[in-house]
Amino acid sequence: MNISRRNFLGGMAAVGLIDLTPKLNKAQVFGGQRRIVAGPGRSMLMNSGEKLTDLWLYNNSLPGPEIRIKEGELLDVYFQNKLTTPTTIHWHGVKVPNAMDGVSGLTQPAVEPGEAFSYKFRIFEPGTYWYHAHTMGWEQVARGLYGPLIVEGVKDFETDHDITMMVDDWRLDKDGQIDEASMGSLHDWAHRGRLGNWLTINGKSQFRTSVKINSRIRLRLINSSNARILKLKLTGGVGLRVSLDGNPSNLASISKFELGPAQRIDLLLDVGTEPLFLHDLSSREKILAGIIEPSSHLGRGIVKRDPLIPNRLESTPSNLKHAKRLKVHMQGGARGNLSHASFNGENYSIRHLARFEKKVWAFNGIVGTYEHELGEVKRGDIVILDVFNDTAWPHAMHLHGHDFWIRSSKQLNDHHVDVKRDTYLMDPKEKAELIFLADNPGQWLLHCHMLEHMASGMGAVISVL
Ligand code: C2O
Ligand code: CU
Repeated sequence: MNISRRNFLGGMAAVGLIDLTPKLNKAQVFGGQRRIVAGPGRSMLMNSGEKLTDLWLYNNSLPGPEIRIKEGELLDVYFQNKLTTPTTIHWHGVKVPNAMDGVSGLTQPAVEPGEAFSYKFRIFEPGTYWYHAHTMGWEQVARGLYGPLIVEGVKDFETDHDITMMVDDWRLDKDGQIDEASMGSLHDWAHRGRLGNWLTINGKSQFRTSVKINSRIRLRLINSSNARILKLKLTGGVGLRVSLDGNPSNLASISKFELGPAQRIDLLLDVGTEPLFLHDLSSREKILAGIIEPSSHLGRGIVKRDPLIPNRLESTPSNLKHAKRLKVHMQGGARGNLSHASFNGENYSIRHLARFEKKVWAFNGIVGTYEHELGEVKRGDIVILDVFNDTAWPHAMHLHGHDFWIRSSKQLNDHHVDVKRDTYLMDPKEKAELIFLADNPGQWLLHCHMLEHMASGMGAVISVL
């Protein structure tokens, strides 16, 4: 050992030397452990400069900290609950091992106030995902418990900027606080769900971001609202859609698109020197949601803006003869045709269920609880979910732990049938087949991601043995 090194370590004993041997290597290999703390927090949702809104946040940040890892990496999260209510984290769209899925009461007990839980799993599929509370989600997500989870591909699109935008609508009262009075309103639960009156991107109203001039950017849009179907419109440029729900999609030039709750869309955009505007048209008024401003102060983009090679899509299994069919007849809600349903093994009138249990929806005549098993399938089975939305409302059907292909009576427009998703927006009276390869063992939820609908009955479990 040379002298300078000895001097550097000063009077430390040899034991100290050993302790100082960097554990860095391991941490680097495994990406390191991240700490996520759920707790009360505040954020500037309004633009008034003084009104902070009281929320529930991850790491006191809105959205929660962006987790960005490379495909194949281990995600290691030490999660602490500093709320006064139990909670869990669900990794939406990620093919996690079942015990990591974060559904309290099904895949793990809820993390009690003051307690902690370690989520640890490897993510193999690159794409845009998100994480959110999955215990009383309808309340916890509405109060801000969500964040982006980005998995970069080893071979990914080359871009100058990679921008995540989580779009949310909040229902605020006149003081700019979460409208408590309407929280859990049965009217919302039986209609469209809780719709907000204040739109933000990454927690900011009229979100702005600057980019290099003449740059190529990737926009990752995530709808984190409880129930709003966003109708987004880009002006000042056209987006090239490259991904849906974290899966490669067929390439299509689009400037207007819908995004249901929990859905994601990735767009590549070649910007010049003029700003791009993102508006939402889902409410009576056209809302300016975000602005992307090229700024010469940041310099010029350097990525070559060549045309892209089409994505490789995984084609739908062609032989479905031996596929396992599971019927999902969705009923209920306002203006619905459900008169009776079974709840915890007993048959009740829907009026009784609404009044005493706050349940208004059912799959196959059964009000969703984690005891309602739609079916058991074997690992390796191809499964067709035969879904009929026999209600007067749209629903965002989400399957945990798997992606599915979609066959529908409705034209999928420019959406190629070989594109897989994890959340599918169904029109009233639409019939669709959601086809998936059951390759992930465990108990997986199928539910509507309009979180109030899930809370009031729209959910069931599929067991992959
Ligand atoms: Cu995004 Cu069951 O959840
Ligand atoms: Cu729904």
